Amino acid sequence: MSKDDVVINHYQKTSLLEEILAACGTNTPTLDQLSAFDEFHVGRGEATSYLGILMELTAGMNVLDAGCGAGGAARHMASRYGVNVSGIDLTPSFIDTARQLSEITTMEDKTDFVCGSVTDMPFEEAQFDAAYSIHVGMNVSDKTSFYNEVRRCLKQGGTFAIYDICGHQSQMKFPMPWSAATEDSAVLAAGDVQALLENSGFTVIYQEKRREFALESLSKPRAMREAGKLEKAAPPVYMEDFAKKTSNLIDGLDDDVCSPWIFICR
Ligand SMILES: C[S@@+](CC[C@H](N)C(=O)[O-])C[C@H]1O[C@@H](n2cnc3c(N)ncnc32)[C@H](O)[C@@H]1O
Repeated sequence: MSKDDVVINHYQKTSLLEEILAACGTNTPTLDQLSAFDEFHVGRGEATSYLGILMELTAGMNVLDAGCGAGGAARHMASRYGVNVSGIDLTPSFIDTARQLSEITTMEDKTDFVCGSVTDMPFEEAQFDAAYSIHVGMNVSDKTSFYNEVRRCLKQGGTFAIYDICGHQSQMKFPMPWSAATEDSAVLAAGDVQALLENSGFTVIYQEKRREFALESLSKPRAMREAGKLEKAAPPVYMEDFAKKTSNLIDGLDDDVCSPWIFICR
């Protein structure tokens, strides 16, 4: 199986749209109702909003979402900051769901989605004013091609923001939410991510370790685990084996062998 197929196999879920709508309890959810179910990263909407502030997004900008998943962050950025967002993702069911949820929420004029890899994107040179990528690098072993591609698609001086899990992969327990096994995962230490960004021509102007924020965001599953109830919790629609993966992530944060990091680059 190719590396791309491993990723698709990990995330693909053909019933995703139906499951998200069922979880919302309506076929016509608002963005607020969707927010707990269409953003697949630590801290969900709160983390997305914060990234948009750090990126200094302003209305009318054309923005790339590299590894957009089901489009939750794209709709969030578009509605909150008035930007137009183009998302790309490898997993076909995520792209189908992203398009349908944007239609349902009448966000189709502000968001568009294409299926493909962030390492070889079908966008023009200098097409975007800004770009962001949320919890994607952990799946991309060829980060040089990924960052080179983002740089090619960005206007001169444009901002690239990353919100990814970084750390010491050999010390983490798997499965994790992004990969079933160590050999399928591409997590790097924050310093190595910074070096690769700089090799691709970016200047990192700000970075932040978000471990405390992540621990706070995971306080509910932690409490359920302590009460012996995590195994019985309803899994989020996008994740199989939720209890084990979430528990391993909490342990990784506790042991400080992994943490979400933000990088803002120009
Ligand atoms: C944890 S999800 C995050 C999705 C989205 N950014 C969000 O925060 O809701 C990781 C996503 O990265 C995508 N992905 C992984 N490798 C990719 C690649 N080479 N090109 C495009 N997307 C990729 C997966 O398909 C998946 O949708």
